[in-house]
Amino acid sequence: MPDPRVAVVGATGAVGRTMIEILEERDFPLSELRLMASARSAGRVVTTRWGDVTVEDLSSADLSGIDIALFSAGAGRSREFAPPFVEAGAIVIDNSSAFRMAPEVPLVVAGVNDHAAADTNGIIANPNCTTMTLMMAAGPLHHYAGLARMVAMSYQSVSGAGMTGMDTLWQQVLELGKRREALVQGGWEHGETDPFQRPIAFNVLPLAGAITDAGHTDEEWKLVNETHKILERDSIEVEPTCVRVPVMVGHGISASMWFDSPVDPDAARRVLADAPGLELWSDDRVATPLDSAGQDPVMACRIRPTIGTPGGISVWVVGDNLRKGAALNAVEIAELLI
Ligand code: A2P
Repeated sequence: MPDPRVAVVGATGAVGRTMIEILEERDFPLSELRLMASARSAGRVVTTRWGDVTVEDLSSADLSGIDIALFSAGAGRSREFAPPFVEAGAIVIDNSSAFRMAPEVPLVVAGVNDHAAADTNGIIANPNCTTMTLMMAAGPLHHYAGLARMVAMSYQSVSGAGMTGMDTLWQQVLELGKRREALVQGGWEHGETDPFQRPIAFNVLPLAGAITDAGHTDEEWKLVNETHKILERDSIEVEPTCVRVPVMVGHGISASMWFDSPVDPDAARRVLADAPGLELWSDDRVATPLDSAGQDPVMACRIRPTIGTPGGISVWVVGDNLRKGAALNAVEIAELLI
């Protein structure tokens, strides 16, 4: 492909802005950059390394002449606009959940199942940010020993809910932070909690996403279904719990995994030390969401043998959900295409 013409759809959002930053950082060989968002942002000028770019209204933009479109404007916009982009000749790399489970759409974690990207009919899906982060460790371990069962707990940052998520946490920290006694003894009050169900500042929400089937949330089902699709093994038993924590950026996942045959921590460390896009941290300086913010690699540490059912390993992984969890992976997929 000659240097592609690239569009970022949702360019003013938390992930869209990170997509632009990452295209710049990686000196992505594009011949033209177009930025699209809602009518609210149309006309805004964004300064990029390719010059000043005026944000276009997605609903009235001319879709011709785009080779690669990076979408992160929500599943509704993806459902409505990805097909016309493809008809107009673009390959859409979609960060939403709209097409992830469609059988004809590849679901790609760059570095884990790159081969799937070759099989596109115009749309390639970027996995959910929590699943993506976990797959950076689970994928190489699966290829080594065959993943059979996994219990996974996520600690998801508020930026997973976009700019509004970060604004809400910031606002609540400022308000509730004035009332230290109430945080200790009770009697706190809060205003708007949207987009979360309960206050998130100084708190933990044992429910991320919306409840769907069998009392599990949509985030939890993504962890189950997307794991099966990415690792190409529907028999993997996944027990997910998704939790929202008062962290701006960086999703952490604590996972215990069992394989077709026993795997000991030394073997797991050797596999993860060679895993692309992953940094293995020692336990004397554990990797935290704050360490991951603004960083490309996913970090892994706390590798231990399972206790109750021996033969498996437990591991902590953490990564910037806006980067590898979303924008970086989308740009890496685009790099696979060119
Ligand atoms: P806008 O900023 O104009 O609302 P986030 O998830 O961080 O909130 O970002 C969502 C992104 O999706 C933003 O770029 C937002 O643009 C864009 N978006 C939201 N609704 C629409 C819409 N109806 N049409 C086009 N873009 C939209």
